[in-house]
Amino acid sequence: MSRLILSLTLCSLSLTAAKPQAKPIPDRSLGLSRTSVFDAPAPPAYRDEASEPGEKALPKRINREYPPIIPHSVADSLPITRSTNLCLDCHAVPGPKKKGEATPVPASHYLDLRRAPEAKGTQVAGTRFVCISCHVPRTDAPPLVGSRYRG
Ligand code: HEC
Ligand code: HEC
Repeated sequence: MSRLILSLTLCSLSLTAAKPQAKPIPDRSLGLSRTSVFDAPAPPAYRDEASEPGEKALPKRINREYPPIIPHSVADSLPITRSTNLCLDCHAVPGPKKKGEATPVPASHYLDLRRAPEAKGTQVAGTRFVCISCHVPRTDAPPLVGSRYRG
């Protein structure tokens, strides 16, 4: 028995030895910053979108399933608190959408998928209340990695 174990061990040792040595990954290839892992580079400066709602053309949507980007400044609309949600003041309007006016909050946002998935509520569901947990405001930050996705 012990001889069997010994020969198995030797066999696996020789298999390990036969494997080509994995090359170490250089520091600069590990993260998105492309610097040494010991550096703490400052992120590139970017500017928040400053245009008023409706001032600029809407960016093209690449997929109807994704939360559309907020195309306008949010400086005056944040923070969203329990008693104040300025996003809803403009966006909780009945459809259909009128050109240049706030896009109505879609029907999906009135469904409480957890407790009453069949019933359309009269108010936006709690899970949708903090709009900016899904919709991101536009900035001029360059993308960290490229994407060839075209929707
Ligand atoms: C003063 C009114 C107003 C406020 C406040 C406001 N919006 Fe808007 N929003 C608009 C208008 C107007 C548009 C642009 C519609 C257009 O150009 O057709 C818009 C566009 C958008 C869009 C793009 C919709 C699309 O069709 O692609 C999103 C997403 C959005 N707003 C989210 C938000 C969120 C989230 C907040 C709160 C942080 C917010 N908005 C606050 C008026 C407002
Ligand atoms: C849990 C994520 C989530 C939250 C929170 C959320 N949304 Fe959305 N929103 C989406 C997704 C996903 C879509 C696209 C699919 C759809 O229409 O349901 C969308 C679409 C929209 C649209 C475009 C509708 C259209 O007809 O094209 C508007 C406007 C919008 N949301 C506004 C808001 C506002 C205002 C809030 C806050 C009260 C909010 N959303 C909160 C995920 C979210």
